[in-house]
Amino acid sequence: MKTIAFINQKGGVGKTTCTMNIGAGLSKLGKKVLLIDLDPQAHLTYSLGIEAHTLQNTVYNLLKGLCRVEEIIITRNGLDLIPSSLELSGAELELSSVAGREFLLKEALEEIQNYDYILLDCPPSLGLLTLNALTTAREVYIPLQTEFLALQGMSKLISTVDIVKKRLNKNIEITGIIATRFDNRKNLNKEVVEKIEKYFGSRLFKTFIRDNVSLAEAPSYGQTIFEYKENSYGAKDYLNLCHEIINRG
Ligand SMILES: Nc1ncnc2c1ncn2[C@@H]1O[C@H](COP(=O)(O)OP(=O)(O)OP(=O)(O)O)[C@@H](O)[C@H]1O
Ligand SMILES: [Mg+2]
Repeated sequence: MKTIAFINQKGGVGKTTCTMNIGAGLSKLGKKVLLIDLDPQAHLTYSLGIEAHTLQNTVYNLLKGLCRVEEIIITRNGLDLIPSSLELSGAELELSSVAGREFLLKEALEEIQNYDYILLDCPPSLGLLTLNALTTAREVYIPLQTEFLALQGMSKLISTVDIVKKRLNKNIEITGIIATRFDNRKNLNKEVVEKIEKYFGSRLFKTFIRDNVSLAEAPSYGQTIFEYKENSYGAKDYLNLCHEIINRG
């Protein structure tokens, strides 16, 4: 079982798009996948066509110990999801004085075993929810937009992972960097990719996710890219990336 957190405290870099479509791609390739929406914006939940505000139980209730994990998993087209909702925005504050607050998610998921991949979509911050992802996961994937300032904030993110590794989870590693919204026609994009490669070396996946309008449209239909437009560049890129992820072992 591989547990991977998608983290970047910068907003709008493709964390949710990556979590959803890598999850869907791995599932298409026969893997059993659980997605966890850890963002109070609940974009992953809504993007999969689930009306977060109508749900009884979400990851918020799970973190507060108010329900069991089996009660909140939603199965949708072969993909399992632990949904989020806006309520989660209060969790950082409400849970800030709870003993063991960094391990609430890890403990709640303890019974879960029968997945090949668990993918965690994190909010654009390095607060308590992201910390919970870092104690639960073994791997961190960082999506980076191939634009100006892509690497801004990376030293803060890397030092946060280092601190967690020292104090809370010795297994955590940054193992994958995903270049997103790549446009081959733009020189700036190519220069940024070179910089990212210099910085992260072989951890940068060889498959770049191109800028593709279908990827931006699919969530408004509540669909993954494979459901929405199977022949799009977006679907091709994410499927290639999934092959790369599986081949890394
Ligand atoms: N390869 C792509 N081509 C075109 N649009 C994309 C691509 N990847 C993501 N987008 C769009 O960019 C926007 C931001 O992506 P996304 O929501 O995945 O980022 P995020 O890092 O999860 O944001 P947040 O920090 O708010 O959670 C979305 O509107 C999404 O549809
Ligand atoms: Mg997001």
